[in-house]
Amino acid sequence: MSEQRSIPQHVAIIMDGNGRWAKQHGKERYEGHIAGVESVRRVLRAAATTGVRYLTLYAFSTENWGRPVAEVEAIMELFCKSVVGEAPELVKQGIRVQIIGERDRFSERVLEMIDKIESTTLKGDRLTLVLAFNYSARREIMLAMRSIAQRVACGELNVEDINEQVLSEHLMTRDIPDPDLIIRTSGECRLSNFLLWQASYAEFYFPETLWPDFDEQEFSKALEAYAKRERRYGLVIEDSKA
Ligand code: IPE
Ligand code: IPE
Ligand code: MG
Repeated sequence: MSEQRSIPQHVAIIMDGNGRWAKQHGKERYEGHIAGVESVRRVLRAAATTGVRYLTLYAFSTENWGRPVAEVEAIMELFCKSVVGEAPELVKQGIRVQIIGERDRFSERVLEMIDKIESTTLKGDRLTLVLAFNYSARREIMLAMRSIAQRVACGELNVEDINEQVLSEHLMTRDIPDPDLIIRTSGECRLSNFLLWQASYAEFYFPETLWPDFDEQEFSKALEAYAKRERRYGLVIEDSKA
């Protein structure tokens, strides 16, 4: 396997365990989210250095609105603060930020921050940081189907021309390649409505580590595990050990 292929082009992370980390440290849940921002910085740096081109982070699911109001507000506040604080460093490092998720429920301030970070980092070409914020994979697929149906209804698209590529092009991730590696921290082994369509042939890695404790070393362990995987895509590989 060539060096190039052993490095995933796109790593997606379900950052889980902030609440449990806070509890373990006798802190409030929001303090776990604050500690998690440091892990984002570490992993972003490690990903860019290793040559990963896309890093998607699941920051807030559509279901997460159901959490206590104070926690939701703390997460929104943290998002705004981080965006303002990190912007110059992101630009310096050549990182482009793209937000996926629905924008309907955000406050004016959050919307302003999303626009700001996306426009200031637009020219970054070293790594794209995709933040899944108010994201739900099922809604993403449903919305894609709705817009395809609208195009059919107005005669812009023929039913026979709907294929996998057309559906992919109607998703929020339309410009982003499918993830090669999906990591979920904290020992939970589920997708929780994350990238359901895009994850078809992703490799999965589930470390026990809680997100605020996840660091560069943990990230390189994940990449090492990925490099040992054999991606078969349903085919038979001649020199396969299996
Ligand atoms: C992940 O950590 C962050 C978000 C979902 C926003 P959690 O807050 O889910 O942490 P646990 O799962 O309760 O430990
Ligand atoms: C998934 O984590 C969402 C994020 C990490 C943003 P949750 O902690 O909300 O998921 P469940 O409830 O354990 O499935
Ligand atoms: Mg959780």
